[in-house]
Amino acid sequence: MARRKKIYEGKAKILYEGPEPGTIVQYFKDDATAFNAEKKDVIDGKGVLNNRLSEFFMTGLTQIGVPNHFIRRLNMREQLVRNCEIVPLEVIVRNYAAGTMSKRLGIAEGTQLPRPIVEYCYKDDSLGDPLVTEEHIAAFGWASQQDMDDILSLALRVNDFMSGVMLAVGIRLVDFKIEIGRIFDGDYQRLIVADEISPDGCRLWDIETGQKLDKDVFRRDLGSLTDAYSEVARRLGVLPKSNVTKPTLIN
Ligand code: CDP
Repeated sequence: MARRKKIYEGKAKILYEGPEPGTIVQYFKDDATAFNAEKKDVIDGKGVLNNRLSEFFMTGLTQIGVPNHFIRRLNMREQLVRNCEIVPLEVIVRNYAAGTMSKRLGIAEGTQLPRPIVEYCYKDDSLGDPLVTEEHIAAFGWASQQDMDDILSLALRVNDFMSGVMLAVGIRLVDFKIEIGRIFDGDYQRLIVADEISPDGCRLWDIETGQKLDKDVFRRDLGSLTDAYSEVARRLGVLPKSNVTKPTLIN
């Protein structure tokens, strides 16, 4: 890998300089972390599945006109994406109560929310990505009011798309997180969906059984994470139907 310059290594991905200006290569690792990296493990095949699943979701978003950073998949673990400046916010959309929302507000996990609720966390691992309000975001200049309008619209469009795609394969989209990138075309700038969309950043429950098919399987020691992600990929047609557990991918 000496031919490429590493730009950044995160918990689940490595970013390399891309082959053309304005592009980067996202390499999906098998590393899993939870609780701000207090719990760590290497999950065989997770990176391969997330590379493929993120490609699937981003390609679908492109098809319905939701701008995002995905250009093309390069191989089992890598995809070419547009280089963008990441807005320092984790944008969380919730359809059902779970996780920190349930803890914070005392709402039982699985309670349907009256409407999708969008939350913002300040992206800073050393602080544990604290929940912030639009007041903080405006006052500290993390995003403008126009950016926030665009971010809300992107988040809700991603939510409608992802909810529908999941519902069609018997999965409830409980909540998810996206990250937003800023790209510049001369003097003009716009916001696009960036990072990844995968079961690492979603809560996905089987509609019939309630079985968890997302990173909570790892966080809460509920079984094999690869099996859970493979099941999502299989239902979406990203894996051949006969292959339930092994992340051997079709081209
Ligand atoms: O996941 P946790 O209970 O710590 O936090 P949450 O606020 O309930 O997470 C809401 C959703 O955003 C879940 O689907 C998480 O997987 C996702 N999330 C994420 O991917 N990365 C974060 N840093 C925080 C949340």
